[in-house]
Amino acid sequence: MVDAVKDVSSLVDVAPRERFARVCALTGAGISVAAGLGTFRGPDGLWTIAPEVERAMHAHLLPANVDALWSVWGGMWEIAAGAGPTPAHRALAATGASVITQNIDGLHQAAGSADVVELHGSAGRARCLDDDFCGWTGQAHEVRQGDLPGCARCTEPARPAVVLFGEMLDPEALGEARRLVSSCDLFLAVGTSGRVAPASWLAPTARAAGAYCVNIDLHPDGPADPAFHARVVGDAQDVLTEWASLPSP
Ligand code: APR
Repeated sequence: MVDAVKDVSSLVDVAPRERFARVCALTGAGISVAAGLGTFRGPDGLWTIAPEVERAMHAHLLPANVDALWSVWGGMWEIAAGAGPTPAHRALAATGASVITQNIDGLHQAAGSADVVELHGSAGRARCLDDDFCGWTGQAHEVRQGDLPGCARCTEPARPAVVLFGEMLDPEALGEARRLVSSCDLFLAVGTSGRVAPASWLAPTARAAGAYCVNIDLHPDGPADPAFHARVVGDAQDVLTEWASLPSP
């Protein structure tokens, strides 16, 4: 019988820094809300208030939806670049935690985290729609501007290097994420609804490997995921900055 998930008000209560040496954080949209980016689910989530936008994020609509991809993901990148990393991003960087992020906003790297796995890609990067013959990839600012953002090498359109619904994740990124959660002693899920696989499989993997697992969520939707030992219902900005301010091992 698995113990019930403990609801606590502070990460410090259940995961004092000195007890853990290998921390791994899985982050979602919630950690970037303070940078002006929205979430996807919940009453104010982008997919909730604009389901037609969510429908446009599916790979089978390519190339017709390339403009929408740049508008949504490129727009998020611009907001993040203008705001910069939040205190929560900086707190994770300060603790040296490895980060697996579902976010495409580049804020963990901007905060100084050295070990970041971008499970869903990055809106700061772009790639040619012609994967077979061209295969160009590069920085999003390199794409040719025009009616359609164009590949920097050939005449085909370019798309943000973000994983769309219906696409497989980069197997190397997924493999690295699994390696990280299988070797950490503290697993934190921060600002994610845990509704999207395979990211949502990482908590059970971490737990099975012996990590202490804590979920940090401001507006949890439903009962706590039993993969976690504890849940902190709070703002990641407060929870992580308080935790990171304490002495490290
Ligand atoms: N602190 C902590 N948690 C927060 C905060 C905050 N300040 N603000 C919001 N949250 C929580 C919400 O309670 C919610 O549980 O962040 C979570 C955001 O959930 P989603 O909107 O589902 O975002 P995410 O889990 O990152 O989505 C995963 O789904 O559509 C795809 O590509 C998209 O990468 C995204 C993936």
